[in-house]
Amino acid sequence: MAECRICAGEVDEFFDFGRQPVSDSFVTPETAGSEFFFRLAAGICTSCTMVQLIEEVPREQMFHEDYPYRSATSAVMHDHFEAFARRLLETELAGDDPFIVEIGSNDGTMLKTFRKEGTRHLGVDPSGQVADFARAEGVRVLTAFFEESTAREIAAEDGPADVIFSANTTSHIPYMDSIFRGVDALLAPDGVLVLEDRYLGSIMAANAFDQIYDEHFYLFSVSSVGAMARTFGFELVDAEPLPVHGGSMRYTIARPGVRTPKAAVAELLERERRQGLASPETYRRFTEGVERSCTELVRLLEKLRAEGRTVVGYGATAKSATVINYCGIGPDLVPFICDSTPAKQGRLTPGMHIPVQPPEEFSKPYPDYALLFAWNHAQEIMAKEQGFREAGGRWILYVPEVHIL
Ligand code: TMP
Repeated sequence: MAECRICAGEVDEFFDFGRQPVSDSFVTPETAGSEFFFRLAAGICTSCTMVQLIEEVPREQMFHEDYPYRSATSAVMHDHFEAFARRLLETELAGDDPFIVEIGSNDGTMLKTFRKEGTRHLGVDPSGQVADFARAEGVRVLTAFFEESTAREIAAEDGPADVIFSANTTSHIPYMDSIFRGVDALLAPDGVLVLEDRYLGSIMAANAFDQIYDEHFYLFSVSSVGAMARTFGFELVDAEPLPVHGGSMRYTIARPGVRTPKAAVAELLERERRQGLASPETYRRFTEGVERSCTELVRLLEKLRAEGRTVVGYGATAKSATVINYCGIGPDLVPFICDSTPAKQGRLTPGMHIPVQPPEEFSKPYPDYALLFAWNHAQEIMAKEQGFREAGGRWILYVPEVHIL
């Protein structure tokens, strides 16, 4: 059995996707085949309940100068972060000369509001190209991996942080011991660490198996984040379910005894117990769900091809790498995928090498069906692409199961 990266307990492997490429390595025709492959398998720690990958991808393979993901591609996510930034300004950051640090600040979507309001802030992100978008907005960014040494340097230069925030990033980081030592060095005595991430409870309920990929080293729950905070000398004091990304959770972590934990923590722990989030039966059902979804999806795509129907992918998401490669979906079934991220356009998806095109190609002419890989942005994308439905097009989704809308 593998050893838990959080508590050194035993990790019980529940699914093996086999050899998979790094999910955000969108290659050019010239570099196709150079993708880094690893064994994508997930398990649950039988002690602290943390769901985690069995094999770790070296961080430099995932996050580097050319990392393509941009938070700002979703207007919903943009509004979501702005609303939370405003809430923080009225609460945790309402004191004298507050300071906020963001781990994984990407293109500055969250920190932009603090820049506008003149609040001291610093983003830390190893991906140079996306950080340049933040800098262009006047956001302060340090191009580095956040870890203990980085945190100590920031503490020495800028002083303690009232809030350390991180959205959809800490789950990417196996070495949480170093992160928490860094948080300990940087966080003000009564400051908070706020983490947002895809929620394990929602992933299991929706059989959203594509949320398992290299960058999602952990799938967090209230139970596992509570245990992680305790392991590293902190305390989980609040948890707030969020609708984004198909179901997320915002965790507030403080130094032990500094804040009274909110009732939501105990309530959500009880809900997780009732859902069976630590029970082997849940993971057995999940495994069956993955196989069923893949078989049905490929069967549907093959049937449509046999009928002469056209199918295009929508959203070259990192998570689509898991579906595309595990189910074996190539350009013969999905000739191209539309995506609004310039850094992905003109490239090929990792592993199966499906070309990525700008969304403008979607309507030239509209296909009969669109396979929505960005299902977590379904409302936003369907609202934007109403013309597709009006032209008689239908959406194919595979979460929570394969269906046509
Ligand atoms: P995510 O699910 O990891 O946020 O990735 C979403 C992907 O979908 C990203 O590559 C951008 C793309 N996208 C579009 O192409 N159009 C859209 O309207 C939205 C919201 C996302």
